[in-house]
Amino acid sequence: MFLGLDLGTSGLRAVLVDGDGAVIGSAEADHDVAHPLPGWSEQTPSDWIASCRRAMDSLRAAHGPALAATRAIGLSGHMHGATLLDANDEVLRPCILWNDTRSAPQAKELDTTPRVRELSGNIVFPGFTAPKLLWVDENEPEIFARIAKVLLPKDYLRLWLTGEHVAEMSDAAGTTWLDVGARDWSDALLDAGHMRRDQMPDLVEGTDASGALRDELRSEWGMSNPVIVAGGGGDNAAAACGVGCLQEGEGFVSLGTSGVLLAARESFAPAPETAVHTFCHAVPGKWYQMGVTLAATDCLNWLARTLGSTPRALASALPDKIDEPSDVLFLPYLSGERTPHNDAAMRGAFVGLDIATTPEALTRAVMEGVCFSQRDSLQALRATGAQLDTLLAIGGGTRSRFWLESLATALNLPLQIPADGEFGAAMGAARLGMAATGLAPNDIMTRPAIAETIEPRADLTEQFETRYGRYRALYPSIKAALT
Ligand code: XUL
Repeated sequence: MFLGLDLGTSGLRAVLVDGDGAVIGSAEADHDVAHPLPGWSEQTPSDWIASCRRAMDSLRAAHGPALAATRAIGLSGHMHGATLLDANDEVLRPCILWNDTRSAPQAKELDTTPRVRELSGNIVFPGFTAPKLLWVDENEPEIFARIAKVLLPKDYLRLWLTGEHVAEMSDAAGTTWLDVGARDWSDALLDAGHMRRDQMPDLVEGTDASGALRDELRSEWGMSNPVIVAGGGGDNAAAACGVGCLQEGEGFVSLGTSGVLLAARESFAPAPETAVHTFCHAVPGKWYQMGVTLAATDCLNWLARTLGSTPRALASALPDKIDEPSDVLFLPYLSGERTPHNDAAMRGAFVGLDIATTPEALTRAVMEGVCFSQRDSLQALRATGAQLDTLLAIGGGTRSRFWLESLATALNLPLQIPADGEFGAAMGAARLGMAATGLAPNDIMTRPAIAETIEPRADLTEQFETRYGRYRALYPSIKAALT
């Protein structure tokens, strides 16, 4: 048996799979995000441990004998968060999360520091880890002075599971302290970020063992034999392992809280100017690139809250088949944007409202706006040389047929819909656990069964293309109106 633990922003998901990778059971436990000030987003690391205990208790109650046979655990988690520890491994302040934009000024400065983009392979986005630490240095110097180690969120969970300070390449790539091509901490980047190598955890590949589960937890969860804890991966790399995106030409589009369009790459081909992220994959010798839309289903959640409805009710008011794109345009930048604008300060807009505009028209506009932002990511990825002829489509938003067909048409690419099952980051984490016991990643990280393929609507691609041009033209004018 193999266990995948995915530390998500809203909760922890545990998935137990057998030696063939078939799911035996799963469990979830929620935790909160605090927004103490606009643009701030924080979590209490002890809440992650509490979620892990709750999810494991449920899993044990339902599948005790299977859980007892666990051989390895793989970890996955939301990326970029800064968990600051003192010399006794005590947490110094709440973890500053990936979607926290307080360090935009520090990110801007670091981004223009010589060699930073070249070594890290990326723009320094405000959500990344290094600018967060520069913010702490400037604003909380007494805390900064006490930092003995900085861990990414899932690596803090690993410390609790194993007692070891270890990071792996795919998550470390999102810190701006890693030389992403060389797969090692970079002294130049650490210097630029006012950090030292001794404050960094040891590095392993996602498929390597990073330690062993502590005896106390092993007996608490009824596990009889030693349990390896694998390096694992940042959530997007782990999700790519979960759906078998390892080779050039393989990619997925995800309509989750945030939207991701990801392409596996065989080599390190950074193109920071496109605002595409270039990170190490969770398997050795591979990388991946992705465009990130900060608010995807989050835009529909916002609309539902605003209209006093639910996302499900709004989505089900739309037909399955799409029509010409809406006359109303929506910019989905409710939390700023990463790809392609790298603009934490940008905000969203509806344009073209009419006295007759209905809630349905607003829902369509929101869904189409998110699709056009994914199209921006596709253009950016193509500019890096990524070849994508078809994509897997995953994430909660894909439950809407209307949204799926709009996305296929806006991207002008066929979208493959996996058959029901487990193929997210927790599954990827379990597969990384399997790999740490010596199994070959290519044998384990297979593609899911495809239930159906959604083709772009050939009769509407031209109209979508024209509307995408109008969408593109809006960013500079709305930006000017907001500044
Ligand atoms: C990736 C990113 C998000 C988080 C949240 O760069 O910030 O996808 O990992 O899950």
